[in-house]
Amino acid sequence: MPEQDASNPKEFYPDVPQTDVTFPLKGSNSLDWGMKNRLSNIFDSSSGKTVMLAIDHGYFQGPTTGLERVDINIVPLLPFADTLMVTRGILRSLIPPTFTRGVVLRTSGGPSILKELSNEQIAVDIEDVIRLNASAMAVQVFIGGEHESQSVHNLTRLIDAGQKYGVPVLAVTAVGREMERNARYMRLACRICAELGATYVKTYYVAEGFETVTASCPVPIVIAGGKKLPELEALRMAWRATEEGALGVDMGRNIFQSESPQAMIQAVRQVVHKRERPEHAFDLYRTLTAEQQVSVG
Ligand code: 5RP
Repeated sequence: MPEQDASNPKEFYPDVPQTDVTFPLKGSNSLDWGMKNRLSNIFDSSSGKTVMLAIDHGYFQGPTTGLERVDINIVPLLPFADTLMVTRGILRSLIPPTFTRGVVLRTSGGPSILKELSNEQIAVDIEDVIRLNASAMAVQVFIGGEHESQSVHNLTRLIDAGQKYGVPVLAVTAVGREMERNARYMRLACRICAELGATYVKTYYVAEGFETVTASCPVPIVIAGGKKLPELEALRMAWRATEEGALGVDMGRNIFQSESPQAMIQAVRQVVHKRERPEHAFDLYRTLTAEQQVSVG
């Protein structure tokens, strides 16, 4: 028999209205609880932003510079990443399962850099996404590319699978070499992904009119880092993008190809989460780099 529950007076606070929680992430309040919970593994609840570390490049270009040895060069960066964007192969073989922040799993693939990149298919089953406890699935979308419709179809099929099990989908707008990287193209690509149900969208920063890209996309946008830039320039790009409405970065080469990746990811965090000016964050980068050189030397 359960014990009688009568010794303490109960307090039902009948005069206090229930506190109902709204989910603050842009365009995400109508999502189901599981989706919101997974998104909370990606976007920091204090700043509302994310520093995703992208290391999935190998799925089409093999051992990319800086990613030759993930165990040596990437694992030490994990404490500074809100989320890791990764393939299931690298996740299973090299990422310690004690990493408990968000994992965004690369779920599309097919062609290598030797072939037409837009010819991708879905490359992971939703059951394996759940088995790996991933927080989201990432799929490449090639608007204007040779296999545009196929890549959009990959996106919508993953969205349907994600809806079934509460897994968000990150649509990655892939800009072909022949495409102009301007706000007009980015608006088109991001909006299409959002209209079709992407939970959030990754795109490239453009210097002119990026605020129109974020304003016309009803769900969060994060920016890719793109080709390696001098550190201060990369920090300026992260700062401008977040000033102009991006909710974070999904940065790869500008972190892991930096002279000092650990210093760089910490500097990026200062810009994204603390709104530190890029010049100040660059000072931090230099200080941390110098300290590291002293401790190694
Ligand atoms: C591959 C990707 C990469 O994750 C993306 O390019 C981010 O890395 P980087 O900052 O090096 O551009 O989506 O298509």
